[in-house]
Amino acid sequence: MTSEPTRLFHLSDIHFGLEDREALAWVKREIAAKRPHAVAITGDHTMRARHREWDAATAWITGLDVPVTISIGNHDMPYFNPVERFLTPYKRFEGMKALVERELHLPGLAIVPLKTVRRWQPRINWSKGWVTDEALERCLAALDALPKGTRALVAVHHPLREVGTHGTALTRHGEQALAELAKRDVLGVLSGHVHDPFDIAEPTPEGEVRMIGAGTLSHRLRSTPPSFNEITWDGTVLTVRARNLERVPTREMQIEDVPPNALPPRTPEEPVAPVGRVPPVDPPVH
Ligand SMILES: [Fe+2]
Ligand SMILES: [Fe+2]
Repeated sequence: MTSEPTRLFHLSDIHFGLEDREALAWVKREIAAKRPHAVAITGDHTMRARHREWDAATAWITGLDVPVTISIGNHDMPYFNPVERFLTPYKRFEGMKALVERELHLPGLAIVPLKTVRRWQPRINWSKGWVTDEALERCLAALDALPKGTRALVAVHHPLREVGTHGTALTRHGEQALAELAKRDVLGVLSGHVHDPFDIAEPTPEGEVRMIGAGTLSHRLRSTPPSFNEITWDGTVLTVRARNLERVPTREMQIEDVPPNALPPRTPEEPVAPVGRVPPVDPPVH
């Protein structure tokens, strides 16, 4: 472990096609300024996996000048072409194939993928999560193969169980997966899908597992503004900070002329929203 904490940016649900360009410009500036050791993007890179959406996602993601790993979300497989969805569901990721479910090794910390999407499911709603035995075994084998003393974050798309947000994951076999991860003493599970950030300790029969969710960087907002998570690991403590776009005093968010009847602006010094269970307060905007 180096003296500098390991820094990771956790992004999710950019949904190219309905991406928030202001939020993406802000995140890109933050990445350039803070140079995190890595960026983990936990799925739903597109709206409907259209070619033009994948092209935009690929250009933006491969333009990040730091190591990146991406998970596949339920919006990322062909939606309008069932033949392609069944036969070659990952064909459209070709431009960044090497980043898909890539295991990353950072100082003292590894990011290990766990797939939670399926090209089909024996239930009506295929947008929900599903951990197959094969996917879990692959993840556990990767965890067990890590060098001694390396701690791990597991990257998924769907939260492995419900976390009290508007959006639901309803992940089949998620609880069994959490119990297996608890046995391995993972530092946390990074997820997306519900479009609101959270950071909770989830009890399992094998001990607690920390579940960490990143919000969205799209216009598909639920209860919270566009955001990403800034995660640091100092060898002892994993700190998660949700960074909300609306709290950032960027030049773009300042206005030149203040109308005489304007209300006092919110101070940019106001602390960021505390990370924790996000209460479902407002109906979804989209
Ligand atoms: Fe999403
Ligand atoms: Fe999703």
